[in-house]
Amino acid sequence: MPDSLRIAVDGTAASGKGTLAKGLAQALNLAYLDTGALYRSVALGLIRQNLHQNIRAEDAVAAVRAISPLNLPDDAELRSEKTSAIAAEVARIPEVRQALIPHQQRFAKHPPKGYHGAILDGRDIGTIILPDADFKFYCDAESAIRAKRRYNELLSKGETATHTDILTAIEARDQHDKTRKVAPLRAAEDAHHINTGTLSIDDMIAKAMQIIASANE
Ligand code: DC
Repeated sequence: MPDSLRIAVDGTAASGKGTLAKGLAQALNLAYLDTGALYRSVALGLIRQNLHQNIRAEDAVAAVRAISPLNLPDDAELRSEKTSAIAAEVARIPEVRQALIPHQQRFAKHPPKGYHGAILDGRDIGTIILPDADFKFYCDAESAIRAKRRYNELLSKGETATHTDILTAIEARDQHDKTRKVAPLRAAEDAHHINTGTLSIDDMIAKAMQIIASANE
């Protein structure tokens, strides 16, 4: 095992990549960065300034400057469906992606003190941000399963939603993420694929831990 471990986790919307990344972070004492929250924070900044209707690249880049990856807001608004939709638009802007690269690479290279390395989850971590990561995982599941999980999560937080609306929104975001010109969502060639639709949370984490352990045998 290297002194400082770097792990990339990518995957489709609501695929469980965040849950996998957090589980591995805890098991391996790695600092965790949810890079989707960076795009969401930029989106929220634009929404709060009412600049989200016709998003201009310069406003979005100014919103990037206002965020700090070590201190991202974690309120319900960040996770709302509206912020999700604007985040997918923001994520298509090449200047925004470019401006966020150093934030992410710095975090991976210099994780906060006390950790054995860093784990980042997103859409382009294994392909663009950390092409030399020690381990790469790509999470996916059928969109109906992902929508059901997301629907239950929203209901448990007291939000109102319909399963059909969530499914439509998830499929639209996947389409946005996979077809954009810059850094589209795709699995790195050397990523380990995990079908999160057929695994419990514990089994998904155990499977990834097994892959990491077997590389060190
Ligand atoms: O993972 P998430 O749903 O919180 O991501 C929000 C949006 O940001 C989503 O449309 C994909 C985009 N994103 C991205 O393009 N690249 C990343 N590294 C992380 C997220």
